[in-house]
Amino acid sequence: MNVTQAEFIISAVGPDQYPEDGLPEVALAGRSNVGKSSLINKMIQRKNLARTSSSPGKTQTLNFYRINGELYFVDLPGYGYAKVSKKQREEWGKFIESYLLKRDRLRMVIMLVDVRHPPTRDDAAMYDWLTHYEIPICVVATKADKIPRSRWQKHIKQVKETLLVRGTDSVVLFSSETGLGRDELWGLILERTGQ
Ligand code: GTP
Ligand code: MG
Repeated sequence: MNVTQAEFIISAVGPDQYPEDGLPEVALAGRSNVGKSSLINKMIQRKNLARTSSSPGKTQTLNFYRINGELYFVDLPGYGYAKVSKKQREEWGKFIESYLLKRDRLRMVIMLVDVRHPPTRDDAAMYDWLTHYEIPICVVATKADKIPRSRWQKHIKQVKETLLVRGTDSVVLFSSETGLGRDELWGLILERTGQ
């Protein structure tokens, strides 16, 4: 995919702020700090359009990025960040949940996990929840550059087994450092968004 245009559109705190131009949307979900914003930057080949941070909890709103005037990436706030209050967590939860359930132009959720570690209970709950509501999912196991290639297959197997990934869902090995998995993921995105 040749990205010629990538624009940050809005940091939405409520549905009335979502873009209304009708383009298909692909949302990024995953634990805080797993690498959602970094993945967006790698996909669009821009260093820092989506703000990243080594401290978790950076993205706290729904951030819409319009790509080639054809689709949106929607960067969701990460889950499982311990340092926010329970109340705050519940509010974010509701906000994300209503976006995922009600947004009719949402075409797919890219669910990120860290390939180095077994998926957490939060990850498994998220995967279950998305499958329950029949939201199309692509699992991305990221930070592949952090483990030796000889261990990739073993770790991918662990991801699949822990999440109980259905045979119909793709699992893409990815690295925002090296670009591994970028072309494969673009292929899946374009298939889903119908271009
Ligand atoms: P929140 O916005 O807090 O939910 O985090 P996020 O999921 O958007 O994570 P972000 O993209 O900000 O990345 C978190 C940290 O992980 C940063 O220090 C990134 O540089 C690093 N990181 C992300 N992806 C990769 C990767 O593929 N490889 C390596 N080595 N580091 C990565
Ligand atoms: Mg982020």
